[in-house]
Amino acid sequence: IHQFREYPLHCVLSFLKRMNRCWQDHCRQTIMIRSIFLFLDRTYTVTVPRPLDGAVQKRTVDGILEQIERERNGETVDRSLLRSLLGMLSDLQVYKESFEERFLMETNRLYAAEGQRLMQERDVPEYLHHVARRLEEENDRVISYLDQSTQKPLISNVEKQLLGEHMTAILQKGLSILLDGNRVMELALLYQLFSKVKGGLPTLLQHWRDYIKSFGGEIVGTPEKDKDMVQDLLDFKDKMDNVAQGCFNRNESFINAMKEAFEAFINNRPNKPAELIAKYVDCKLRAGNKEATEEEMERILDKIMIIFRFIHGKDVFEAFYKKDLAKRLLVGKSASCKLSKSMLSKLKHECGAAFTSKLEGMFKDMELSKDVMIQFKQVNTDSSMSLTLTTYCSIHLPPMVKLQEVFKLFYLGKHSGRKLQWQPTLGHAVLKTEFKEGKKELQVSLFQTCLVCEGELRRTLQSLACGKARVLNKSPRGKDIEDGDRFNFNNDFRHKLFRIKINQIQMKETVEEQVSTTERVFQDRQYQIDAAVVRIMKMRKTLGHNLLVSELYNQLKFPVKPGDLKKRIESLIDRDYMERDKESPNQYHYVA
Ligand SMILES: *[C@@H]1O[C@H](CO)[C@@H](O)[C@H](O)[C@H]1NC(C)=O
Repeated sequence: IHQFREYPLHCVLSFLKRMNRCWQDHCRQTIMIRSIFLFLDRTYTVTVPRPLDGAVQKRTVDGILEQIERERNGETVDRSLLRSLLGMLSDLQVYKESFEERFLMETNRLYAAEGQRLMQERDVPEYLHHVARRLEEENDRVISYLDQSTQKPLISNVEKQLLGEHMTAILQKGLSILLDGNRVMELALLYQLFSKVKGGLPTLLQHWRDYIKSFGGEIVGTPEKDKDMVQDLLDFKDKMDNVAQGCFNRNESFINAMKEAFEAFINNRPNKPAELIAKYVDCKLRAGNKEATEEEMERILDKIMIIFRFIHGKDVFEAFYKKDLAKRLLVGKSASCKLSKSMLSKLKHECGAAFTSKLEGMFKDMELSKDVMIQFKQVNTDSSMSLTLTTYCSIHLPPMVKLQEVFKLFYLGKHSGRKLQWQPTLGHAVLKTEFKEGKKELQVSLFQTCLVCEGELRRTLQSLACGKARVLNKSPRGKDIEDGDRFNFNNDFRHKLFRIKINQIQMKETVEEQVSTTERVFQDRQYQIDAAVVRIMKMRKTLGHNLLVSELYNQLKFPVKPGDLKKRIESLIDRDYMERDKESPNQYHYVA
């Protein structure tokens, strides 16, 4: 490039201008001569352009390249002069070898250096905008004065030097910044630019998948943040969907990679996500229409189903969901009954009828129990109390025991052979009390009314004396119940409502419940493994260990470790369902 600097600017320019004047004169004269000799021209003349003198041609091309370099550095140049001179080179049929080759070489050199330098100096968003601007400028150059045939090699050179050479560096340095910051404009630009270079989109795809796995892994793999896990997952999914749709052109490969990544990271931590998704749904359905309209709730449930779809151990979800549904139905918080049913049909659609049959059974039981209660009331008109699942009953237990007996006789009389089981933990009652302000009805759990164990007592006292509605006074004051605390009836209790709900503690999950639910799932899985092993062996009679294991993986719908399968197989051998081959211990035989 320095060779252009031999001549001061005004010399280069005046040379180019003089050159152009000569050319224009020449063209005019040629046209004149041509029209005179039109006839001869048509018949005899083979138009061979007169070659330019070598030194003149070189000086002309030097000058053009120098002007272009200036323009690339931000100066204004005489574009019509350049167009005319480059047109001259084309007409003389020396455009390619005298100009284009050198021009492309200079282009490469310039942008190789610029790419190196700016990747160091600028952050990725700035860099991307710079590349976009450069490409626009070069396209404009083609339109303004370069020959159209130069466009393809020129643009692909710029793309290669500014993008192709730095793909990995750009993504490593910038993709997570763009995605973290939800910079949709730059993300769209990134996709658009990368789609132009060879191997660009596959490289972007790879980094996209990695980003989702790592960000999602953080959400799922941090136990301290479990309480926000599901909401964070939903928000993250929304955000990534938005990028795939809005910035990545709805490219199927990117959408599929996102799904794969979600499935991978969500199952990296077994069981917990499924449990938390079930609880999240419960919480949303319990809150009912307070937080959102029914349509909004439906949309939220649909989004949860998308996350749920990724889960491998769906039985964990079912166990927790079932437990919570029972509570919602029995404690009567199903203002959202319609939504609960809608959720059920979504689950059925997703996992099939077998998955939801128990849950559906629970709804049927509720209907049934309403009918039973109506009949019971008809035959027990003399009873001063009513007993239904949404019953009012007195604080005094003895009458209730009596009522239970009456009901038992009635029920078993109608449905012989059934077992009637009371669920005192889910019972609730309305306590009629009188404060100075007047009469109040307190909706409370059965346990709040009749305390049985110390833990329950503390929990219950706390709910009555330390919560929002403090119908008991505690002294000394404080959030926790200590030995020696004294309680008395808060006669001065005031509340704007007549009926006050303070039985929320019933809906809370205790640690024991959580553990027992999880254990039930694991127990159930063991039965399912055993059943599958026996089923397979019964059919095949004899099978090698590896084949058996791979068949099991095909049949089982939850994640299991090879070691667990081995233990179950051992246990079945111990219980004489199958035996090892005497010669080769890796071979099993079915024992009929
Ligand atoms: C979608 O992205 C993949 C990335 O690997 C790419 O190969 C493919 O060409 C893209 N499809 C479209 C329609 O742009």
